[in-house]
Amino acid sequence: MKLLNITLLIVQRVFEFFGGISQYIARTIASLRFIKLIYKPIPTDVFIVTYPRSCTTWMQMIIYQLISNGDLEFNHIGEKIPFFERIPFSNIRLKGLPNPRIFKTHLPYDKIPKGKCKYIYIMRNGMDVVLSYYHFYKSYLKYHNNFDAFFKKFLDGKLQSKSWFNHVLGWYKVKENENVLFLHYEDLKNNFDATIVKISNFLGIELNKDKLKIVKQNSEFDFMKNYEEKFDHANEILLTMGIKPKNFLRKGTSDYGKIEFDDKKIQLFEKKMDEIFKSKTIAKI
Ligand code: A3P
Repeated sequence: MKLLNITLLIVQRVFEFFGGISQYIARTIASLRFIKLIYKPIPTDVFIVTYPRSCTTWMQMIIYQLISNGDLEFNHIGEKIPFFERIPFSNIRLKGLPNPRIFKTHLPYDKIPKGKCKYIYIMRNGMDVVLSYYHFYKSYLKYHNNFDAFFKKFLDGKLQSKSWFNHVLGWYKVKENENVLFLHYEDLKNNFDATIVKISNFLGIELNKDKLKIVKQNSEFDFMKNYEEKFDHANEILLTMGIKPKNFLRKGTSDYGKIEFDDKKIQLFEKKMDEIFKSKTIAKI
């Protein structure tokens, strides 16, 4: 393993040296090295797993509030719960992380490191996801096409995070594993307290009324929106790139499906779900 890591590191450095498109290959190698060779799961590790725009940030805040008893003294939530895939490109070092190590990730089930650690998967209504992702692409990735074009890419799994359908399905299949907790964004919205109890039990965190109150208060949408810079550390960079910040926590509701989709889009969406999920038991999509 060590030899393989060193060999890959040398190859990575060579690609880095050439720059341009080689840079992309270097990043892929760095990422592979980190996920497959450098990171070793330990039982106390926790992964918050989502397809983008499914309330990753909210869950980061909830879990951090649970373990820290309401601490707000951080510049960005990513300092406390880092983005796993980006670690090799950041100044975060695995060795410097406190225990338990909690990560945010968008990795699909087949790509995530497997171990005795815990995985909390959050699924959000797909039509809310596609709309939220569209606004994210427009605000942060300079996407200029219209929603119809974006929607097609989403259905075809041609976005940065590939197919939402396969992502959900992959994790849904292992939802009964004892180290997996499969949740719905909609549960958090409609049944916050009970969901927090579930999360605390799963993670073995003590919960009492006072703590629940703090967690609830500090993770409410309006509260987080007020401190948006703590959740969107890209603000400064984005501004210098001419990209519009203050759009990360956009609305935080779950009924776009009914409001913004015409019948044709709903039919296309449902057809795709039937095709991929092959069962109606994956509820609340
Ligand atoms: P909208 O774009 O629909 O508003 P992620 O963190 O995975 O990127 O997900 C972002 C989505 O979660 C955004 O959805 C954001 O508003 C929503 N969100 C973040 N914090 C929230 C909170 N405290 N309550 C409800 N929704 C929240």
